[in-house]
Amino acid sequence: MTFDIIPIDPLVDEDLATQWIEVQKRSGEADWGDDHCAWALAEIQGRRRGTGYSFVDLAAVQGDSVIGMAAVAMPLLDNTHLALLMLHVDPDHRGQGVGTALADAALGHIRERGRTVVQADTETPAAAKEPAGPRFAMKCGAKCAQTVFRSDMTLPADRDLLRRFAAGEGVEDAAAFRIDWRLDEIPDEWLPGLAVLEQRMSTDAPQGDMTVEEEDWTADRVQENLDWARNAGRRIVQAVAFEGEALVGFTQIEVSANSPTLGYQQDTLVLREARGNGLGLRLKATAALALMDELPQVTTVRTWNAHDNRHMLAVNADLGYVRTGVLQVWEKTLG
Ligand SMILES: CC(C)(COP(=O)(O)OP(=O)(O)OC[C@H]1O[C@@H](n2cnc3c(N)ncnc32)[C@H](O)[C@@H]1OP(=O)(O)O)[C@@H](O)C(=O)NCCC(=O)NCCS
Repeated sequence: MTFDIIPIDPLVDEDLATQWIEVQKRSGEADWGDDHCAWALAEIQGRRRGTGYSFVDLAAVQGDSVIGMAAVAMPLLDNTHLALLMLHVDPDHRGQGVGTALADAALGHIRERGRTVVQADTETPAAAKEPAGPRFAMKCGAKCAQTVFRSDMTLPADRDLLRRFAAGEGVEDAAAFRIDWRLDEIPDEWLPGLAVLEQRMSTDAPQGDMTVEEEDWTADRVQENLDWARNAGRRIVQAVAFEGEALVGFTQIEVSANSPTLGYQQDTLVLREARGNGLGLRLKATAALALMDELPQVTTVRTWNAHDNRHMLAVNADLGYVRTGVLQVWEKTLG
């Protein structure tokens, strides 16, 4: 089979980019059926207009058809040693060297840009027998640096139970904390506190053996992320915990315009000094209730948690999350 690897610009080549994203979708469907995750073109384009990363996007093309895709994201604000690789081959064109050719081309671009550590994810359904992704990553010389469980919660859930969780029923110091939430519009005065929480996500959440440094967050960076989501038609439920005037915890659920029945549970963190007060459960229950009220078309919330994140996994079990698969972060150091 002959094919070419070409660079593409999703901001310019919209037809090509649409096919390129379709490969990622079809690849996800092959493994996950209806439970796949997929990016929307507007989300991909928004990231490429942002200031947080530079990108190299590659397509494997045969005639007029895109049969494979690779996207390399290189952080610009911190972790400038890293390159984050996403790579998918159309299910009808696998096992013919397309993945290897895309990986070789991507690694060439990454080396050229002086990045020294490449990370890529594979996602495997719980029932999968011989998943191609992990075998491919090992063949490329990568090592598994982090194992993450993927879990789904079905909505609508038991509203009374969620209300009791959200109120901190049975927690001794529940009254010392106030939980609040917003849909889409986040008050400016929350932004500096959210920046602190995002930065702590990069040091205080389990990182396994990943070669990552502390991220550098500002209120402007939080705002840029919110703008990216809004401009791409994403809805965001943001729940926060206050102790006095200080933000001490947060969680977000995002709903892509691309998949309006699916909520992506994003970052959740309670500052170390506020842990042990049941805030993780209160925050997540609050966000789930908000979703049921404001975006009732959402029937699934999906989350990813490090396999050793005992407390977060216990919170998820209380909320009714069910494990559906495993995500592995693969890392390769370039010599
Ligand atoms: C992993 C993936 C990219 C491989 O693409 P591909 O074009 O089939 O890859 P190649 O033909 O170049 O094969 C390279 C290696 O992949 C693995 N592989 C390919 N097909 C496989 C299959 N059906 N089952 C298990 N492993 C397979 C093998 O290790 C193979 O090497 P080998 O032929 O020497 O045994 C593709 O299966 C895919 O898109 N999977 C979903 C996304 C993903 O996991 N991406 C990898 C991120 S690191």
